[in-house]
Amino acid sequence: MRRVVQFSTGNVGVHSLKAIIGRPDLELVGVHANSSEKVGRDAAELCGLTEPTGVIATDDIDALIALRPDCVLYTALGETRPMEAIGQMARLLAAGVNVVGTSMVWLVTPHQADDWLREPLEKACAAGNSSLYVNGIDPGYSGDTAVYSALSLVTRAESITVQEIFDYGNYDDYEYTGTSMGFGTTPGDATPMAFQPGVVVSIFGGLVRNIARHLDVKLDDVRQRFEPWYTDQRIECRMTTVEPGQLAAVRFAAEGVVDDVPVITVEHVNRLTAAAAPEWEFPPARMTGVHKVIVEGEPRVEVSTHLSHPVLDVTEAGCVSTAARAVNAIDWVCRAPAGLVALEDIPPTEMVRGLMW
Ligand SMILES: NC(=O)c1ccc[n+]([C@@H]2O[C@H](COP(=O)([O-])OP(=O)(O)OC[C@H]3O[C@@H](n4cnc5c(N)ncnc54)[C@H](OP(=O)(O)O)[C@@H]3O)[C@@H](O)[C@H]2O)c1
Repeated sequence: MRRVVQFSTGNVGVHSLKAIIGRPDLELVGVHANSSEKVGRDAAELCGLTEPTGVIATDDIDALIALRPDCVLYTALGETRPMEAIGQMARLLAAGVNVVGTSMVWLVTPHQADDWLREPLEKACAAGNSSLYVNGIDPGYSGDTAVYSALSLVTRAESITVQEIFDYGNYDDYEYTGTSMGFGTTPGDATPMAFQPGVVVSIFGGLVRNIARHLDVKLDDVRQRFEPWYTDQRIECRMTTVEPGQLAAVRFAAEGVVDDVPVITVEHVNRLTAAAAPEWEFPPARMTGVHKVIVEGEPRVEVSTHLSHPVLDVTEAGCVSTAARAVNAIDWVCRAPAGLVALEDIPPTEMVRGLMW
């Protein structure tokens, strides 16, 4: 039985919290809440369960460390406050607590992460003899597990394309995803934060370089491309409302090139409802999203992943799957040698233990 603390209860955290409470091989021993309205409330209430757990949310990290958990599941928004998030993760790791999480998406490919990010965390792992692992669905599954599955079916690969084609209309995250992608901005406005020079490569380039590393391919460069799409009609959706002339879809990619030809591409097509960018690729009929891997090779392989759920919409189902990528690794990460763990370090079957309950 692993003693686990859930750190934050946002879009992803509510689902990892529910899984920790539910799984018989994990014991919820603490919950961190940043918001003052959540501090003092029972963990069950924070994730929509009815039966109280007796575990009360706190914003006191030292009190959580004093519980001597085996692992903290860290899903606090990290990319907008990277130094603070690194500080919190390092504090836990240095105290001997393993951390699995979904935040700080650069850590999905820890071998490709910049020194400013890697070094303090490696130092903390060494000090506490602890391990850190970060993953999700995209970045994460779509650029690692799904790619390795597709590549296992070919005798020769010429190019690899990883795509997320997703309607974000129902995604209730204007604050981070919406503003950083610039939904609602006009052509005269500054380039949205996510598409400023180097940002796509900073977030998705690690995936490209990681795939190249495993293929033993030497890339000449990893470059980015970005296309905005402006609507000529008003679009109302859960993410936000956009007016005629405003940005309602984006298509962008990090491309690993050899001789100026992209050979490893990680691409996103994100739109607000099906009314946006009708000329761009859609997921298959009646789906609002797909994660796709296409290997051009001998033979051609296409792996499409669709999530669905009887109650949740597909973006929320994506948050469940993102939570799963962290929860499912808890036991192995608790047994791992100290340091930063990459997906490829973990034998795939180690991540299914305990899932049928
Ligand atoms: N790779 C993937 O596929 C994938 C997919 C989705 C998300 N993610 C990543 O997972 C993380 C969580 O995403 P999300 O959508 O769940 O985020 P979110 O709902 O926007 O925020 C998560 C939580 O962050 C906490 N938080 C905000 N400011 C904080 C601060 N100053 N100190 C401590 N905690 C703070 C809040 O905690 P409280 O609840 O305690 O108030 C909030 O609920 C993000 O870093 C995101 O990039 C990755």
